[in-house]
Amino acid sequence: MAKKIIDNIRFIKRDLSPKMKIPFGTITVSEKSRQLINAALDANRLSSGKYVREFEEKFAALVGVKEAVAVASGTDALALALAVLYDFGARKNDEVIIPALSFVATGNAVLQAGFKPVFVDVDLKTLNIIPEKIEAAISAKTRAILPVHLMGKPAAMEAINRIAKKRKLYVIEDAAEAHGAEYKGKRAGSLADMGAFSLYVAHIITTAEGGIVTTDNSAFAEILRSLRSHGRACKCRSCVLNTASSFCDKRFKQGKNKDIRFIFERIGFSCKMNELEAAIGIGNLDNYQEILDKRRANLLYLINKFKEFRPYLTTICEEAGEKIGPHAFPFIVGKKAKFSREELSGFLEKRGVDTRTLFSSIPTQCAGFKFLGHKLGDFPNAEYIGENGIHIGVHQDLNKGHMEYFINLIHEFLKANA
Ligand SMILES: Cc1ncc(COP(=O)(O)O)c(C=O)c1O
Repeated sequence: MAKKIIDNIRFIKRDLSPKMKIPFGTITVSEKSRQLINAALDANRLSSGKYVREFEEKFAALVGVKEAVAVASGTDALALALAVLYDFGARKNDEVIIPALSFVATGNAVLQAGFKPVFVDVDLKTLNIIPEKIEAAISAKTRAILPVHLMGKPAAMEAINRIAKKRKLYVIEDAAEAHGAEYKGKRAGSLADMGAFSLYVAHIITTAEGGIVTTDNSAFAEILRSLRSHGRACKCRSCVLNTASSFCDKRFKQGKNKDIRFIFERIGFSCKMNELEAAIGIGNLDNYQEILDKRRANLLYLINKFKEFRPYLTTICEEAGEKIGPHAFPFIVGKKAKFSREELSGFLEKRGVDTRTLFSSIPTQCAGFKFLGHKLGDFPNAEYIGENGIHIGVHQDLNKGHMEYFINLIHEFLKANA
């Protein structure tokens, strides 16, 4: 009898331990990154220098733009891109249109740059801003539209750029989650005036923490270089002081007793990338294609398999003319489902699948934005996703076996709960 009870306990214990683990994120730090980190340490040059410049050049080439300016985070990348607009007539408290659903950093960055976010609801199928609703949100104070390519699915850039051109607005892509995404043959980050990427550890190209702004406009890039370094007058692509510790012949050409490094042309930020971060990024770029291919294989497998779970669970699809650059796999508990997101998440978590909620409606579900005066119900789709959306990892350390395991779990859950 006692043996039977012990056997039963063993069985229960074994049954509760997940057969597999699907962690949300991972990071690949290559041998090359390790060598570069050591070289930077040996050279005793850790603040922004030649590795940051090399990383910027390689990143710009990958996205297909002339310029890339590396900073300390994706949020800084967004805030700096917006702050560039002050040099082109924008004023404090002018308005920037953003989707109601995004990671909260999109809204934070608009406020940090000194502008007012004006929210537009998102499409339940694409998770992205609804272009048809943008025009109604434009006022005399609007300066820019800031679409987000959520989960790496490109926003409707053709329509957005058309509206911006008609209303004389700038467009800045929040491409934080869209490394490798393509839209009509062009890469995310090259589809508007500027693109802002996060290089945080969860993303395809990472520097551990970091961000980068991409642009074809050299004037914007100069201002970005000034903004990331306190607004100083130094704007060179490659700073001889920082990269080679040699003499800068521009330094004392500003007039008598004036040092260019201590002339501050605009209100700036302090958000440079450092050499250790750039070293991780340079090594990471060598593995970029492999990482992207693996993530895409995982994502497309899940998108295809999820067709059979409708209407209980829905997800995005890859449309003609676009390539998703997968950040993660998003799915939403459908209106007809008899189970809740919490029940499904709990079921998956207990079986080793890390789950994340699919963000929230920034204006109505994030407490910090209450002061803007929006009320629940103003952004129904964003709010629905905020209450019913989930995302899980599809990163490079996961393979088809992990994806099959996840799909089998969903089958099992729906059989018992749908
Ligand atoms: C859509 C979006 N925008 C902005 C950011 C901000 O990036 P970071 O965390 O590097 O500041 C993130 C973060 O991943 C994001 O997902």
